[in-house]
Amino acid sequence: MCGIIGIVGKAPVSERLVESLRRLEYRGYDSAGIAALIGGRIERRRAEGKLRNLEALLAEDPLEATVGIGHTRWATHGAPSVRNAHPQMAGRVAVVHNGIIENFAPLKAQLQAQGRHFESDTDTEVVAHLIDRELARGLEPVAAFKVALDQLSGAYALAVLVQGEESLVMGARRGSPLVVGEGQGEMFIGTDALGLGPFTNRIIHLDDGDFVAINHEGVRIFDRSGQKVDRALRVVPAASALVEKGNYRHFMEKEIHDQPDACQHTLSAYIDPISNTVASRGVDFAAIDRLQIVACGTASYAGMIGRYLFESLAGLQTDVEIASEFRYREPALRPGALALAISQSGETADTLAALRWCKERGIMTAALVNSPESTMAREVDVVFPTHAGPEIGVASTKAFTSQVAALTALAIAAARQRGRIDADEEARLAGVLLEAPRLIADAILDDGWIPAIAQDIAKARDVLYLGRGAMFPLALEGALKLKEISYIHAEGYAAGELKHGPIALVDEATPIIVIAPSDALFDKTSSNMSEVIARGGRVVLITDAQGATHAPDSVKTVIVPACDPLIAPLVFAVPIQVIAYQVAVLKGADVDQPRNLAKSVTVE
Ligand code: G6P
Repeated sequence: MCGIIGIVGKAPVSERLVESLRRLEYRGYDSAGIAALIGGRIERRRAEGKLRNLEALLAEDPLEATVGIGHTRWATHGAPSVRNAHPQMAGRVAVVHNGIIENFAPLKAQLQAQGRHFESDTDTEVVAHLIDRELARGLEPVAAFKVALDQLSGAYALAVLVQGEESLVMGARRGSPLVVGEGQGEMFIGTDALGLGPFTNRIIHLDDGDFVAINHEGVRIFDRSGQKVDRALRVVPAASALVEKGNYRHFMEKEIHDQPDACQHTLSAYIDPISNTVASRGVDFAAIDRLQIVACGTASYAGMIGRYLFESLAGLQTDVEIASEFRYREPALRPGALALAISQSGETADTLAALRWCKERGIMTAALVNSPESTMAREVDVVFPTHAGPEIGVASTKAFTSQVAALTALAIAAARQRGRIDADEEARLAGVLLEAPRLIADAILDDGWIPAIAQDIAKARDVLYLGRGAMFPLALEGALKLKEISYIHAEGYAAGELKHGPIALVDEATPIIVIAPSDALFDKTSSNMSEVIARGGRVVLITDAQGATHAPDSVKTVIVPACDPLIAPLVFAVPIQVIAYQVAVLKGADVDQPRNLAKSVTVE
């Protein structure tokens, strides 16, 4: 969840550490800090809250150095405060950490018993003490680091400075991401290539368990047993230009507008626009008897939409489960199944663990990921890409629609391979899917309906979202988006479940957002809407022009472009996102960095 960076530079590093942290701030923003080597000593600056607080501190009290480490925090152990901010120090050592040291309590007790004094409530401080203890015993830094690492359990990525070692930063990864960047006479380590984007695009991805030492000459990489190893250097596409907000007020607003492009790029990885054939990227869906989708948060809702498509189009039994539950039960999954993880980041801890669980049992694994260099992408048998570009807003938008677009394409490919459709139908469906980017663009342009509705919803305490079929996961996604960024309590329900509980919540104060394209299920959902209206409920109906003709006068409508049911989840996702966005803006909320959340959840 946290972001980390380390630089062994020729030029001053303070500003560059902060620049990198700005790109990593999406991972956490409870506090930020940097440490640097100055005249043989380590000095640090730390501030609670957003990165701008650290910047203000540095403006008053600069750090002039060429070697340093930095951190932006999503608090796990210890409240957000300066005391608990990273870098954490002990003796000659400063450490920044992303992850959780699960055995920190016994280690801390042991270190305290040896007379070591702790200043914070963090698990990270233990790491600094362990390394410092080994240095004090006379080990040189890399050996001391290895001895310390061998005592840790849990997930971590670390960057370490050692006092007296003028040209050294050490790093390690186990379960949390870390990359090495190679510059001109300078070396970097950081959470991801995006964080190193301003400095280099020459990136080495480390294997799990690797640890490294960088200095002005280059990098030494060791595997978990301490053997020196080589890892491939890759030139990644320069991402630097892609993470500016441009003229938009928030990243989320920009990313909503990016969606036609993001879906177009994603679809181009699956559909040949000349023949309208759909590729399954090497997977033979005819040879698979069951599809098990695992994911967290918004990605799991994309998976639920995928289930409707894989079952109805391809007749492939599909289950979707949130990864944190899947990994801790004993799913009855056997070889013959395909386990498909869906993840924007490709690093979400629970999703990764669920994948590894499947892999260990000989089940074929695939990942639908937006980060081609991520851990999931590197560990699975098959990578299905989304090409949404970097998504910075914590609330996912373009990654979600890109996932749905890719799943729709794969369901068509699966239907063809499984003999459920012929080549003509494949081409027709591919043609329909290729219309989605244009219709998404129309839905974005057509948001004139929403401001008045957003005013209304911004005053509510609770909001209900209802949908049937593939609109049910969208109801869940709509409720999640609203909760995440405007802090209004919201629930998504299958419209048919209304009478089994949620109807008791219906009163004049609770807006009910009904998502209903004019498809085969429209009349059913419309009946549920009438039941709500009869009980004084205030309904907002998101539908197409045809559906709107059936709306009673008391209902406020949001009208989206009419479309084939195949792509309705893509088109109807837009008003869901725009409503949440506009409500959050009206409430003055921190849209891109909502409280307590983080973009990439790399701890359990
Ligand atoms: C966090 C983010 C969500 C995201 C979820 C899964 O909760 O705030 O937007 O859907 O993690 O992340 P992933 O990177 O695996 O898609």
